[in-house]
Amino acid sequence: MVSRPTAVIILAAGLGTRMQSDLPKVLHSVAGRPMLLHLMDTVADLTPERVVVVIGPGMDQVAVAVADHPLNASCVVQEERLGTGHAARQALPELQGFAGNILILYGDSPLITADAMGRLLTARAGKLDPGVVVLGFQANDPGAYGRLVLGDADSLDHIVEAADAGDEDLHTGLYNSGILAIDGARFTDWVDAIGRENAKGEYYLTDIVGISVAEGRQCQVVEGDEVELLGVNSRAELAAAEAELQTRLRAAAMAGGATLADPATVYFSFDTKLGRDVTIGPNVVFGPGVTVADNVEIRAFCHIDGAAIESGAIIGPFARLRPGAAIGPDVHIGNFVEIKNASMAAGAKANHLAYIGDASVGAGANIGAGAITCNYDGYLKTVTEIGAGAFIGSNSALVAPVRVGDGAVTGAGSVITRDVEADALAVARGLQTEIPGWAAKQRAKQAGKKPDPD
Ligand code: UD1
Ligand code: MG
Repeated sequence: MVSRPTAVIILAAGLGTRMQSDLPKVLHSVAGRPMLLHLMDTVADLTPERVVVVIGPGMDQVAVAVADHPLNASCVVQEERLGTGHAARQALPELQGFAGNILILYGDSPLITADAMGRLLTARAGKLDPGVVVLGFQANDPGAYGRLVLGDADSLDHIVEAADAGDEDLHTGLYNSGILAIDGARFTDWVDAIGRENAKGEYYLTDIVGISVAEGRQCQVVEGDEVELLGVNSRAELAAAEAELQTRLRAAAMAGGATLADPATVYFSFDTKLGRDVTIGPNVVFGPGVTVADNVEIRAFCHIDGAAIESGAIIGPFARLRPGAAIGPDVHIGNFVEIKNASMAAGAKANHLAYIGDASVGAGANIGAGAITCNYDGYLKTVTEIGAGAFIGSNSALVAPVRVGDGAVTGAGSVITRDVEADALAVARGLQTEIPGWAAKQRAKQAGKKPDPD
């Protein structure tokens, strides 16, 4: 996309006080993934040369999350929170000898796209060699955003923070997202030149524009979409970010060939994978780690998490697939059926009110209504194996570890504690006895004993 090498600095040392949380703000999740990791996933598309994440003291959880991400980013700690300019300065030791683009991102702005980042870097590569390119946006309510003050020919002259802006600068029409692309060859000097003589007494990274212009370098604005630049400072903004991400994920699902009967009621995870001609009914929730093959129908009110569903399967309504559910081709999972860490081979059916956990179910087997695998004895989880073509009668309890052979049948209401051989019938319940006329005699005998109501 852009030939010049890029180093990324992600600012994430903020306290996130308004989240009212013990969890660092950037680890709060949207679509099942922490905000910071969403941003790092997007950054990975730029194949940057270096990535530095600036965190605050005591944010060990953030350091661990950064280390686990394949981007190979390093963390630096900003011991005192003295402003965005001070935060960026903490990254300098990690950027020694780097003269490409420096891209500044905020850990709490997870929705920015690789396209917007790419447009900033492309502008940096322009003929006039701008010192700083700022991602700006138009806002109806500019709130406390930095004001972009334009110079000649649409160049950017400087940025004024709201707290420092005079009346003439309060409504410039263009505002600072905080995201910047900076000439790495001059970065150290410009950051070192930032002072703290302002309303907040902080080192403002935004001053880097005025510093660059004073040196005779042109600066520019690239416009972005306000929605994509949303910064999360509160739970309400977290919900707004979730809503925006869900809108994108729904659009991507439909663009990829899925039919969503009521898109606004379907909730995806960041990593949900859907094939073509998948149909999803209303009110379906996908947790992390779900893959759905082509031609699968997911009916209304299903909750699906960590499951793989193969082609032609029908799921729901009201089904619950938990982690490790491996649903084979043409399998039917019906209402109020829960599957956990269990495989259902091709064409197997569990259509009503069943729990299948820690189990393998063979091809074409039928699990009757109310059948349960008793997989947990209070200490250990053990496995149930159900052979191909087996028929598990309604309300059977299969006490694991246990195996029901291919083609075997268990009678309804059985408690199966021993293996059943192939093609056998196992019945384990009280035998039915019948006493002819007993009920009529009993009624006659008891009738005389009832007190007269008068
Ligand atoms: C900043 C910009 C403002 C812009 C706005 C966009 C400055 C001076 N102002 O203001 O122009 O419109 O973002 O949202 O840059 N951070 C640190 N260490 C610090 C201070 C901040 O790491 O000492 C991090 C925060 O975690 C956050 C980011 O920097 O990710 C922005 O900080 P914040 O305090 O939210 O800046 P704003 O006042 O919103
Ligand atoms: Mg902010």
